Amino acid sequence: KGTPAKTGAPVTLTIDGIAVTVPEGTSVMRAASEAGIQVPKLCATDSVEAFGSCRLCVVEIEGRRGTPASCTTPVAPGMVVHTQNDKLRRLRRGVMELYISDHPLDCLTCAANGDCELQDMAGAVGLRDVRYEPQATHFETRSGEAPNARYIPKDESNPYFTYDPSKCIVCSRCVRACEEVQGTFALTIQGRGFDSRVSAGMAGQDFLSSDCVSCGACVQACPTATLQEKSVIDLGTPTRSVVTTCAYCGVGCSFRAE
Ligand code: FES
Repeated sequence: KGTPAKTGAPVTLTIDGIAVTVPEGTSVMRAASEAGIQVPKLCATDSVEAFGSCRLCVVEIEGRRGTPASCTTPVAPGMVVHTQNDKLRRLRRGVMELYISDHPLDCLTCAANGDCELQDMAGAVGLRDVRYEPQATHFETRSGEAPNARYIPKDESNPYFTYDPSKCIVCSRCVRACEEVQGTFALTIQGRGFDSRVSAGMAGQDFLSSDCVSCGACVQACPTATLQEKSVIDLGTPTRSVVTTCAYCGVGCSFRAE
């Protein structure tokens, strides 16, 4: 739906022929959702402010040039929006093709198989073939070939989750969740193009030694298997157990860490 619900004056617009009235300031994407129309998306969620980075949610608005992102475009009175036509479908397939060309194709063995928004969106936009050769070094982690200078290994330092940069689509949902949900500002995006990645602190710093407080907001926000909760099965049988008090708020919850 793009952005959290707004409370401004009512605005009526038409989306795919359906009249909908929403509060001023609402995104076109959320208005479409209110009208029962789901616009494809990857970087937008209900829990963080819209960012407009994935360009999957493009729409056409009568009287306006181009194809704006519906998640970052606010509604206007009398606006007439189209979310489905051949041009938009072609654009979305092109976007997804680029994403998939730079993503490991190990869905059948991936921990997120069946619960992956990238997988879902590839199906939703009708992507069948990828014309582009993989450009990144991500695939070396799967093939076992010798890593080169751009290879960044999986970060398993945090006891609760893993970070696999090869599966990151740089949607920034984790970065925004860290800032807006947790207020920690531990994550950022470093690098450009194929080299851009989520980073916890300084270059080369792992999650455990960063300012990350292990709240899990980033893991919840991740649309792929990039940030993946460690399961009890992965961790194995605990060898010791410690009862401690959570320090993040004043409630004083105790929990057992194994
Ligand atoms: Fe709108 Fe990503 S969902 S640009």
